[in-house]
Amino acid sequence: MAKFSKEGIFEMTNKSLGLISGDDAINASVLKAVDRLNDLSIETLSGTLSSVNGSASRFLSEHDLVVFQLSEQKDADIVGSLRRQVGSKCTLLALSNKDISLSAARALKKSGVDEILPFPIGQEELNEQIERLTADMSLLPAIYNPQTEHLGQVISVCPARGGIGASTLAVNLADQLQGHTGIFKKKKKNKVAIVDLDLQFGTVATALDLTPSNGLLRMAQGGVTPDHTFLQQSMVQHVSGLDVLTAPEEFMPLDALTREQVHALIENLRQEYDYVVIDLPRALVEWLGAVVKATDRMLMVSDSTVSSVRQACRLIDFFAKERLEPPVEMVVGHEAKPTFRSGHHVEAKKALGRDLKYWLPFDVRNAKHARDRGQLLSQTSSSCALSKAIRTMGRKIMDESLLNANVRVGKIA
Ligand SMILES: Nc1ncnc2c1ncn2[C@@H]1O[C@H](COP(=O)(O)OP(=O)(O)OP(=O)(O)O)[C@@H](O)[C@H]1O
Ligand SMILES: [Mg+2]
Repeated sequence: MAKFSKEGIFEMTNKSLGLISGDDAINASVLKAVDRLNDLSIETLSGTLSSVNGSASRFLSEHDLVVFQLSEQKDADIVGSLRRQVGSKCTLLALSNKDISLSAARALKKSGVDEILPFPIGQEELNEQIERLTADMSLLPAIYNPQTEHLGQVISVCPARGGIGASTLAVNLADQLQGHTGIFKKKKKNKVAIVDLDLQFGTVATALDLTPSNGLLRMAQGGVTPDHTFLQQSMVQHVSGLDVLTAPEEFMPLDALTREQVHALIENLRQEYDYVVIDLPRALVEWLGAVVKATDRMLMVSDSTVSSVRQACRLIDFFAKERLEPPVEMVVGHEAKPTFRSGHHVEAKKALGRDLKYWLPFDVRNAKHARDRGQLLSQTSSSCALSKAIRTMGRKIMDESLLNANVRVGKIA
């Protein structure tokens, strides 16, 4: 690892990782990650934090990063006592191959674990995390401060074919992610932004009966790298509480934005909002790479016909070029969740290499009713099947991200 010494000399420093695990799969994945990084040495101890307790404090004082397999409830106590003995210089990463409760994750964080990740985890993701956790903090961009950074989840909604209900999902999911609480559902748990990157045919403004802002057009024409002030000026607030960056009313070429601009846009929004929902165009454009890189969840909306599934596969392949494991989750539009999957569902799942996770029932009447009035489903027909399906989806995502929020401190682009 390179860094400047006090005298200003650029010098190399070696980092070391200590691994405490008795799980072959964890060992193999961590070894692979270390293999990929230059100047990172590794020492392994077979067992769990409690079984190697005698050696654990030496491990923490001798290594920059200690990765351990989470095994028992008392791991939090052990970490607490290790931190008291050796201080906080060493970074601790726990890998958990069991589901852990939110309170257990909190206890671990409080005791001094810096990061908890679920295992199995994609190899690329593990490599990135280990690279991040062993990076010299002084070399990280000034913007990154794991203690204060507020990093929201980026959820992109991507249609595999036209008119499948992707924008309807984006808008209403964003609404649900606000986490309405209180007797009249007036209180919101989360701050949510929705961005319409379907620059030419975006319908988010119409769906919410908002006057389109020309923020994205100004960004393209002026070559602006969006910052906090720019976003404040460009976002429109909807009565539901959602902050909206609409597609412009005037025509703009799809490739008028650059990858850097889109990257800055998303990173700025992630710092302000708990969720950033992005409605994507049905087109392959260069800046899409920046979206894919920053996305925590990509909801791909398709139907289960052969042609749409083929399109979805093409898109997944395109995203895979940007990211080894694009976080694509399949949403089947215009179809209620079947009790039994038919042959073509099984085929679709096989071709896509992932489950058909969410289902949005076909409900022209209520979808049209809301769209014609420029209102959310929660305002016009909150008890219809489509609204319920999106609400359930929102709750699932919030539950999962609540756990992740305690699991991940932050993320660097
Ligand atoms: N689940 C649904 N069932 C029936 N009709 C729907 C459903 N969801 C949306 N619609 C209707 O289908 C039309 C297209 O919806 P929407 O704009 O959400 O789709 P899209 O995939 O974003 O389309 P586009 O390709 O134009 O971006 C709208 O008129 C909408 O009211
Ligand atoms: Mg759309």
